[in-house]
Amino acid sequence: MKVRVWDLPLRLFHWLLAACVTVSILTGLIGGNAMQYHYWSGYCLIALLVFRLAWGLIGSRHARFWNFVRGPRAILRYVRGDDPRPPHLRIGHNPLGSLSVIALLLVVSLQVISGLFANDEIFNEGPLASYVSGRTSAILTFYHTTIGQPLIYALVGLHLAAIAYYAVIKRENLIRPMLTGDIDTVAGAPASRDTWALRLLALVIVAAGGALAWWISTLGSVGSY
Ligand code: HEM
Repeated sequence: MKVRVWDLPLRLFHWLLAACVTVSILTGLIGGNAMQYHYWSGYCLIALLVFRLAWGLIGSRHARFWNFVRGPRAILRYVRGDDPRPPHLRIGHNPLGSLSVIALLLVVSLQVISGLFANDEIFNEGPLASYVSGRTSAILTFYHTTIGQPLIYALVGLHLAAIAYYAVIKRENLIRPMLTGDIDTVAGAPASRDTWALRLLALVIVAAGGALAWWISTLGSVGSY
């Protein structure tokens, strides 16, 4: 039986997040004129993260944080192969996967926030760098370039390795549902709502996130974008 697990806004969020993180990494590594695109992808990430935060609170069933965030006991039980959930409720992020989802969202958020305050003391400056002391900006720059960057590589690597593990060892294709929204599961599994009204609401939230990002971009001084 086919059940809608990921609503359209969440799927679009996911692939746009992956695209923006990739653009941010590449443009950050290239530097120079490419930094303009580094800023723009960072602003897009603000809109996306605002959306995901709101969607975790008011989005469809399997996107909501309290539907998939689990404590250490539930995660340990899951790892030991002792999942107390009946089969029809084993859809959405599993208890271990939810940990990586939260870590990814948190680390990308910290990367964006630290970038807003970062500066390289030559050409580039985040739009909020001049609102904090030089020392605070230096600490956040250190985080952005030396801690956050490798942390993102590690978490994205782990994310992709987990998906490959599910595909090869557990013979479970997780990518298809992230594209089509549907999974094949047992009868009685609760679906996510994916109506046009909800999609419109998602668009309004993304627009609000985009407006916030645009406003932040206008706060910068010369040298930032
Ligand atoms: C080609 C690259 C990628 C593929 C194939 C991929 C695939 C997937 C799949 C299949 C899921 C659903 C996992 C599940 O069933 O629980 C997922 C979730 C997720 N992925 Fe990716 N992913 C990719 C890149 C990325 C990148 C670069 C990021 C961010 C840095 C990312 C962040 C996330 C997040 C946050 C979720 C949870 C979705 C949500 O509930 O918000 N992914 N990904």
